[in-house]
Amino acid sequence: MNNTLLILPGDGIGPEVMAEVTRIIDWFGDKRGLKFDVTEDLVGGAAYDAHGKPLSDATMAKAQEVDAVLLGAVGGPKYDTLDFSLKPERGLLRLRKEMDLFANLRPAQCFDALADFSSLKRDVVSGLDIMIVRELTSGIYFGEPRGIVEEGGQRVGLNTQRYTEAEIDRVARSAFELARKRGNKVCSMEKANVMESGILWREVVQKVHDESYPDVELSHMYADAGGMQLCRWPKQFDVIVTDNLFGDLLSDVAAMLTGSLGMLPSASLGAPMENGRPKAMYEPVHGSAPDIAGQGKANPIACILSFAMALRYSFDQGAEATRLEKAVEQVLADGVRTADLMQSDGGSPVSTAQMGDAILAALDAS
Ligand code: NAI
Ligand code: MG
Repeated sequence: MNNTLLILPGDGIGPEVMAEVTRIIDWFGDKRGLKFDVTEDLVGGAAYDAHGKPLSDATMAKAQEVDAVLLGAVGGPKYDTLDFSLKPERGLLRLRKEMDLFANLRPAQCFDALADFSSLKRDVVSGLDIMIVRELTSGIYFGEPRGIVEEGGQRVGLNTQRYTEAEIDRVARSAFELARKRGNKVCSMEKANVMESGILWREVVQKVHDESYPDVELSHMYADAGGMQLCRWPKQFDVIVTDNLFGDLLSDVAAMLTGSLGMLPSASLGAPMENGRPKAMYEPVHGSAPDIAGQGKANPIACILSFAMALRYSFDQGAEATRLEKAVEQVLADGVRTADLMQSDGGSPVSTAQMGDAILAALDAS
């Protein structure tokens, strides 16, 4: 099967971190015989400068065809005064919406060398590797009716939590598929004790499990207790699947278990395509970091780990994904640090390209 990849570096530090990913993609082609058919294109401010739109129709069409989209970051002060519909972020939102990427994957992975960056104790987080799957296109952020309405002489703020069986079913399937490529364990979180949508959520997840994924270990937890358990002993989890609202909160909590923004990858998955692979977009959690753009200071690891996720979840190359993650871990264990990974007490940081060099050297030695 062909491996097709659309690379959208974007703005600010996006192109800087993506340059390191490109070298790594080439390394897998040269050294591991893992060839990618790569197309590079524009998104965000860069696309606006070229075409007057943050994402051209041609780029959108290409994104629909490829196995995976890898995006750097979009945005910057230069575009702050643009009309809302032309803003760089609209390019990103259009990709997510038209590809119907309903499952947002946020891993929380803590390399031992960075365990002291966590808000928790070292032994609680060191070696942590969990994945939060957040439903991204439905739930209370989209449910109708919504608005600020007049009722009994006062204003009422109104939102509706609403999930269809089909919406729960498909995100549950994504979570079980992922679990099979990881630790084979899913914990589903909702509030079935007080919410109707939670009762349905639990019922549908259980049904999908029993019918299609009986080999995966499934548990259910109330989302508030889940938040507590994430901070108490996060290593009990492998994959957590939850709705849009709870996932928003729980994934931010999980991110802080692991430290710097420069380290956090993410993925958004949609329905399976004809070749069986899910529609997918991979991107670092961080933005375009205009404060450090153009200075060679950006940490490329979040973007590199996003590519590792693509290897595992789009290209079925779990062993090669692990190889790349181990190379990152090795480099960190050796004390190689970009500026964002240094405590104030010092040492001298490496540049974006030097971090790339170190990871390539670790891959060579692997
Ligand atoms: P940001 O994530 O770009 O930066 C926040 C802070 O973290 C900055 O101090 C930055 O220097 C640092 N940082 C971020 N990534 C880093 C990396 N890889 N290495 C080292 N340091 C890093 O968020 P901010 O400043 O709120 O937004 C800047 C621009 O990015 C805005 O235009 C915003 O709209 C856009 N943005 C885009 C996102 C995306 O493309 N997915 C996500 C978040 C923001
Ligand atoms: Mg959030």
